[in-house]
Amino acid sequence: MRIDIITVLPELLDSPLGHSIMKRAQSKGLLEVHRHNLRDYTPYKQGQVDDYQFGGGAGMVMMPEPLALLIEKLQAERTYDEVIYMTPDGKNFDQKTANRLSLKGNLMIICGHYKGIDERIRQHFVTMEISIGDYVLSGGELAAAVVVDAIGRLIPGVLNDETSALFDSHQDGLLAPPVYTRPADFRGWKVPDVLLSGDPKKVDEWRHEQALKRTEERRPDLLED
Ligand code: ADE
Repeated sequence: MRIDIITVLPELLDSPLGHSIMKRAQSKGLLEVHRHNLRDYTPYKQGQVDDYQFGGGAGMVMMPEPLALLIEKLQAERTYDEVIYMTPDGKNFDQKTANRLSLKGNLMIICGHYKGIDERIRQHFVTMEISIGDYVLSGGELAAAVVVDAIGRLIPGVLNDETSALFDSHQDGLLAPPVYTRPADFRGWKVPDVLLSGDPKKVDEWRHEQALKRTEERRPDLLED
């Protein structure tokens, strides 16, 4: 999979995408992430990419021209399955969307700043708008990093058996059950006996019960779907 990210702050993505599983996905050649600095594509002087909004009001808006030039340059090089705009008024990102996007070949992600991007770019180029939650970040970069991480780890071959995504919270519509590691007795706080029983069927049943219980307690909305 190839992901092209349009941003005015490419450095902000270095760390989230440069370690651990994201690093492995890229070094294995399973994921390519290309960052493009929007300022390199502006026809305006001094790398200007934003301007005052028509109609007045506080906050700058990202101008359509630099965005259109860069989007069209990338689209001339390959076909994109989705052109995604990261925005708090987008559709809430969830595991189902991550699963679906992880099967795509080429994705483009646009990170907004300030008041957002000119509406005409959303109307004419963007095919999907994603929010990572009901709060406002200073820009779309951290949200894009969240989306790339959630998608990237699902690409076949990225995770090994130990880190398999199959048993993640949300993957089966339930929260994940509690997990324990050594020692079996820590300060007198004991690991549930069933996990030490060596009976895989019993362990599976216990985990499923716990996942249901946890979901009922913490996220009953997930069980309504
Ligand atoms: N940009 C700013 N806030 C955001 C959010 N919550 N989700 C996606 N992109 C954003």
